[in-house]
Amino acid sequence: MSDKIIYPKTKLRGEITVPGDKSISHRSVMFGSIALGTTKITNFLKGADCLSTIDCFRKMGIKITEEGDSILVHGKGLRGLSAPPETLDVGNSGTTTRLLSGILAGQSFTSVMSGDESLNSRPMGRIMTPLNRMGAHICSIRDNNCAPLRVEPGKLHGIHYQSPVASAQVKSAVLLAGLYADSETCVTEPALSRNHTELMLRSFGADVTSVSYEDGSAAASVRPCHELYGQTIQVPGDISSAAYFIAAGLLVPGSELLIKNVGTNPTRAGILEVCQAMGADITYLNTQNMEETANPGGEPTADILVRYSHLHGTTIEGSLIPALIDEIPMIAVMAACAEGTTIIKDASELKVKETNRIDTVTRNLRAMGTDITPTDDGMIIEGGKSLTGTHIRSYLDHRIAMAFAIAGLIAEGKTTIENSQCVDVSYPDFFRILEKL
Ligand code: S3P
Repeated sequence: MSDKIIYPKTKLRGEITVPGDKSISHRSVMFGSIALGTTKITNFLKGADCLSTIDCFRKMGIKITEEGDSILVHGKGLRGLSAPPETLDVGNSGTTTRLLSGILAGQSFTSVMSGDESLNSRPMGRIMTPLNRMGAHICSIRDNNCAPLRVEPGKLHGIHYQSPVASAQVKSAVLLAGLYADSETCVTEPALSRNHTELMLRSFGADVTSVSYEDGSAAASVRPCHELYGQTIQVPGDISSAAYFIAAGLLVPGSELLIKNVGTNPTRAGILEVCQAMGADITYLNTQNMEETANPGGEPTADILVRYSHLHGTTIEGSLIPALIDEIPMIAVMAACAEGTTIIKDASELKVKETNRIDTVTRNLRAMGTDITPTDDGMIIEGGKSLTGTHIRSYLDHRIAMAFAIAGLIAEGKTTIENSQCVDVSYPDFFRILEKL
């Protein structure tokens, strides 16, 4: 386990590309595996989470190879997976576990999924409830609604599921099981979560419809499917990884950074709205909208030019939360440096991420001298005090390690990020790029 030391910097300048989107990389391998023919993926994120997904499908008989810069998934069709000879190791990855549950629910063999300590303590009842209602047989082996999960064959029926949480992982698990059901499956959610599954399944040939309602809630449906067909997928840069360099450009005095080819799907790009509300100087170049882009299902992209800005506090709430849920640790650091108060609410989902991020953000920002009050569904941050470099615990949470590494660039003195290698989960090159800048 290695620590990283960060010293204050000024004038970050340059052009960077961020790695491929994690959510889209996972889905490319999953959908490619259950499609007929070859799926060719470029700009695939080789982070630990997505490698867990590859490993699981290899164990179920799918050949996944590399060709130059691309990954080739030699899909075997909706019913082509074979029984894994051992437990499927999902590592640290909630997306692997929950989306794979939807696929495994429709198979004619028994399988077991298990992950690391953090993963095995995250809530899985949220996918077990709807999937079992569809006729799946998924049980928590330790009977605590967490992984390890055992999935046994079941005959699936379409349901209308009203999800209590806006979660793309829950929605995706139910839609994927819906491919194997005997009638239409519909999921409604209180706010629209990232819609990569809907866009990508459609491009693989599934009959998926989506609607958004005026009150912010949304629904997606899928009809039972005969087959999916392999696709060529160009994965856009991950806005969740870009977020750290967007923040660095805004916070470090004298900076100007160009971040190229970033996915700007509105269901993901909430951080850009927040930056605007905080007074950030951001320009979008080379924007490619849904009709123009070569990305799966029409994922929009842009190059993002960020300049050092004087930020002010804001309120972040409601249906914007799912569009920036993974960026809240970084936004909290930005809020600590902004003038005035920032309120984050309706974000109790933060408690069930890789760590309880209300807790881990609060502890680390307090250690740096920020006045922050955790609440039941978010946090209140009094900005404007300068940050003090200190020993930062990552709690093995990649997003905490990266957000506080950026905080270290503007803190007074030395900042140490403990167990910094946990960034490998989503951004193995993070510290190398940071040092290069
Ligand atoms: C993801 C959905 C989000 C997000 C996670 C990736 C996905 O989780 O936090 O990092 O790829 O579907 P929830 O669906 O639990 O909100």
